[in-house]
Amino acid sequence: MPARVCGIMPGSYFFGSWQKCGVTRKPKMEFTTDILSVFDKKWALLTAGDKDKFNTMTISWGGLGTLWGKPVATVYVRKSRYTHDFMEDNDYFTVSFYPEEYRKVLGVLGSKSGRDMDKMHDSGLTARETDHSITFEEAETTILCRKLFCQELQTENMLPEIATAFYSVDAKHDMYIGEIIEIIP
Ligand SMILES: Cc1cc2nc3c(=O)[nH]c(=O)nc-3n(C[C@H](O)[C@H](O)[C@H](O)COP(=O)(O)O)c2cc1C
Repeated sequence: MPARVCGIMPGSYFFGSWQKCGVTRKPKMEFTTDILSVFDKKWALLTAGDKDKFNTMTISWGGLGTLWGKPVATVYVRKSRYTHDFMEDNDYFTVSFYPEEYRKVLGVLGSKSGRDMDKMHDSGLTARETDHSITFEEAETTILCRKLFCQELQTENMLPEIATAFYSVDAKHDMYIGEIIEIIP
């Protein structure tokens, strides 16, 4: 059954939080989804930067939940990704979801690096400014996040089989937890 997540009523405890972030509109905070499979099955674009310089990449690892009394989104970015540089340099990021017809585009954005291609030109997506960050016109839902926390997933703290399977060759992931500031339809 689809679960409604982040159904926060503006005006409750979340009110002070979005005002402090410099967001001037009342945030929309409703997102109806199958929470356990939205990343895994649907995929998403993780984007950071501003209109002059940004990068985006496909993600299928992530989560939505609650931490420190705030609605949060968590994403995992290998240090080798070009997007990692933008996640480090910016205080906000977006996670955006797309209709099925964009699956092929997400496949390309998840197999080539912004270091080697003009992702905007080659994907055909149209950049759209949000408060503090960037998403795309074609998104059906965008989650705007303010970075709260970042930490490397350290192999010594994992089950050995996970460390071997995922980090023998490839770079480690950094985990980013962002406060959900707005859910943009
Ligand atoms: C379906 C799919 C899901 C992916 N999920 C992630 C992910 O959660 N984290 C990650 O670091 N890379 C993930 N990737 C890989 C990046 O999207 C890919 O390496 C991309 O080319 C990086 O682009 P960039 O170098 O421009 O940042 C995924 C790729 C695909 C196709």
